[in-house]
Amino acid sequence: MPHSHDHCHHRPGEACTGDHAHAAVQLVPPPLSLYVHLPWCVRKCPYCDFNSHAGKGALPFDAYIDALVRDLDQDLPLVWGRVVNSVFFGGGTPSLFPPEAIDRFLQQASARLRFAPNLEVTLETNPGTAEHGRFDRYRAAGVNRISFGIQTFNDDALRRLGRIHDSGEAERAVKLAQDSGYRNFNIDLMYALPEQTLAQAEHDLERAFALEPTHISHYQLTLEPNTVFFARPPRGIPDEDGAWDMQEHCQALLAQAGYGHYEVSAYARDGWQCAHNLNYWRFGDYLGIGAGAHGKISSGAQQQVLRRWKHKHPQAFMDAAGTPAAIGGDDVIDAARLPFEYMLNLLRLHEGFDLRDFEARTGLGRAVLQPALATAVERGWLHRDGGRVVPTELGRRFTNDVVELFLA
Ligand SMILES: C[S@@+](CC[C@H](N)C(=O)[O-])C[C@H]1O[C@@H](n2cnc3c(N)ncnc32)[C@H](O)[C@@H]1O
Ligand code: SF4
Repeated sequence: MPHSHDHCHHRPGEACTGDHAHAAVQLVPPPLSLYVHLPWCVRKCPYCDFNSHAGKGALPFDAYIDALVRDLDQDLPLVWGRVVNSVFFGGGTPSLFPPEAIDRFLQQASARLRFAPNLEVTLETNPGTAEHGRFDRYRAAGVNRISFGIQTFNDDALRRLGRIHDSGEAERAVKLAQDSGYRNFNIDLMYALPEQTLAQAEHDLERAFALEPTHISHYQLTLEPNTVFFARPPRGIPDEDGAWDMQEHCQALLAQAGYGHYEVSAYARDGWQCAHNLNYWRFGDYLGIGAGAHGKISSGAQQQVLRRWKHKHPQAFMDAAGTPAAIGGDDVIDAARLPFEYMLNLLRLHEGFDLRDFEARTGLGRAVLQPALATAVERGWLHRDGGRVVPTELGRRFTNDVVELFLA
């Protein structure tokens, strides 16, 4: 039990309405996942602010895998004995790495960590890097979920986004993976693209549905600082209202096609939500391995939540991996900031959260959420049902404002 119910006026086992303070709240470490960052791409896309670098010449795949293993070894004491429920190879373009390299990393990791029997292992794939035969070998290595960065099926738009593939290649890549037995895959799409019409955004979804993905991530194109698009914004990007209109229409199409909206940008067929991303949004724990990777690890013994991040630059990371110099920073999240960080994640989810879960994951009593919670309910942003808190439709439209209420 995360807290003692001595002060509650309900019997044990009955839902707590949460309107009173609780004593002896305990932080209980949540489920754990593993994020692995692979930082290279064929070419840098002009809208992208991920830690990704255009690879020049032969990339040091083997040396990078060795560095990842050293990096993991250094983090192991943070998670001794805990079960890992998912692995996510993100980038950058993980599909640039040969299957043998991914296989070697997974073998080394499984010798050091306790992998859950139903471990979800996702690999991000740029369709421009898909080759015949590769998916069989990723599968043999243990990758059981693929995430394709397709963005749009409009060839003009793909060119303007600086993508290295056209729509035909995107479809071929998905078919190659399906031929290798992949049924569980995600398609990343972006909307509110330069000069994009509503009909085009809807057409992108139709093309995606035809491929029968289990999951669709539908992102609004954002102009991120330190990108080419930010410095020189392309013409014809829809304004906020235009983008919201597209989102609403697309959301309806996704629902009709059987994709349930469960997070701001995430839609899935029943039972196919992404376990790895869900764990982030539920304020779960994760190790972050590789250049620029971020981790979040809770300690029951120390009753604290630690954030740790790694050096961003691939070569500097490789040179230092396994030594303290590879760690970009260690930061214990301040108790005053924990409610905000928790809400930043949980309020993205349609399912909302239980106050009891808030207490277990932060070690703080639910009383600290007042009066922000009351204000949010009063404004019609959050709905409360006993100990359960769920964002309303209005709250989902203004997630940032809702979350801000919880800033200390
Ligand atoms: C690491 S990439 C996926 C794999 C691979 N690098 C690729 O692009 O094909 C993650 C996803 O984030 C999304 N993304 C990147 N930059 C974005 C931006 N500025 N606005 C919205 N979505 C973005 C794209 O949909 C992209 O597929
Ligand atoms: S969007 Fe994907 S392929 Fe393009 S630069 Fe970013 S990580 Fe690389």
